[in-house]
Amino acid sequence: MSIGGARPQFVKMAMMFHGIEAYKARNHCSIDHAILHTGQHYDPLMSDIFFEELGLAMPHPIIGTSSGTPGVQTAAMLASIEVELMRETPDLVLIYGDTNSTLAAALAASKLHIPLVHIEAGLRSFNREMQEEINRIVSDHVSDLLLAPTAASMEQLRVEGLSGRAALVGDLMLDAVAHYTSSDRTSAVLDKQGLVGKSYALVTMHRAENTDSFKRLTAILSSLAKFPIPIVLPLHPRLSRLLGVEGRRMLASHDHIHLVEPVGYLEMLVLEQRADVIVTDSGGMQKEAYFLGTPCVTLRDETEWTETLHDDWNVLAGSESETILRAVRHALERSSRAVEQPRNLAAFGGGQAAAHCIDEIMKFMEKKK
Ligand code: UD1
Ligand code: UDP
Repeated sequence: MSIGGARPQFVKMAMMFHGIEAYKARNHCSIDHAILHTGQHYDPLMSDIFFEELGLAMPHPIIGTSSGTPGVQTAAMLASIEVELMRETPDLVLIYGDTNSTLAAALAASKLHIPLVHIEAGLRSFNREMQEEINRIVSDHVSDLLLAPTAASMEQLRVEGLSGRAALVGDLMLDAVAHYTSSDRTSAVLDKQGLVGKSYALVTMHRAENTDSFKRLTAILSSLAKFPIPIVLPLHPRLSRLLGVEGRRMLASHDHIHLVEPVGYLEMLVLEQRADVIVTDSGGMQKEAYFLGTPCVTLRDETEWTETLHDDWNVLAGSESETILRAVRHALERSSRAVEQPRNLAAFGGGQAAAHCIDEIMKFMEKKK
């Protein structure tokens, strides 16, 4: 059973789902793979659209809406996941990444002694103020099999004494980009905003460290007002709520800022591919920028995905307005030179992560027999 509930997890679960289907067809065997949707993300544009686009049946989320403090949210998911696990009795639970859904599932499964596999294990920002850092550390330490996406994450697991349970498999998000990117797909958003064929920056922001800090948020927003090219900004609900009607109106009053609803995954890949620069605090989008060869400016002080920093494909700009603008200008100069610097996609598994994950899971299950 795969358990998840946040937008990036639907992408990863979809790649495992399709990987398992391919494995079954190749090996003429039967594996039941259930998907449990915690309901952490519940708006149709944060949830249903991913299931539709990525060819997954949409399961009924086990909790309705998941607002509240992190403790309340995690506890509600933990209690509901436990009920589902006791009813379904899966042989194995797969968890993904570092959200509160990941932590809740890790605790529920490990307390019921159900073998637990953490996909995207070993990532660290070394910033313990991030909820995600705590979620990753706990999830790694209670899991029975740790599937690491990169050599650096594998090394971190060794440092923490976990290498006996770990394997290097690559990154499911590269599998997804390789599978779903198509150079002839059009963008409804660019069309509607009158930006087809024009330069633009793709901006997203949702990290609590940025949205929940007045100082950081205002500094980042003031940098956006000074961008030298148009901005397409799909609004994550966390940012949208914080801005409120007034804040959104103020941002959109700048002619070059195009605020749009969250977009589906396929639209996002086109937006990322065509952008001159991606400016984001998203973990997934830093990687997608690197995979697609679009320069990225990251609105954080550290990153778990240090491989993307190579050759300045990704630059950590923090939240200081002038630093962000300088990094954006630098990225644009680089785009206009159109020099294709080599990127190391092999460092992320080359697009074969699902197959490696399934092989490692099969070996693990075999050993347990
Ligand atoms: C969560 C993850 C973060 C991940 C991100 C992916 C945690 C601690 N954070 O952050 O690691 O990068 O998902 O997008 O697990 N909301 C809605 N509709 C939705 C979902 C959320 O309105 O469909 C609003 C709610 O008011 C909610 C707030 O957004 O309180 C934040 O949502 P939450 O899931 O708690 O955290 P994210 O910021 O989405
Ligand atoms: N994404 C999307 N539409 C959006 C914003 C993001 O499809 O409007 C995709 C993005 O391409 C990536 C994933 O969602 O695959 C990343 O999610 P997010 O940035 O919310 O979370 P993070 O990766 O930071 O955990």
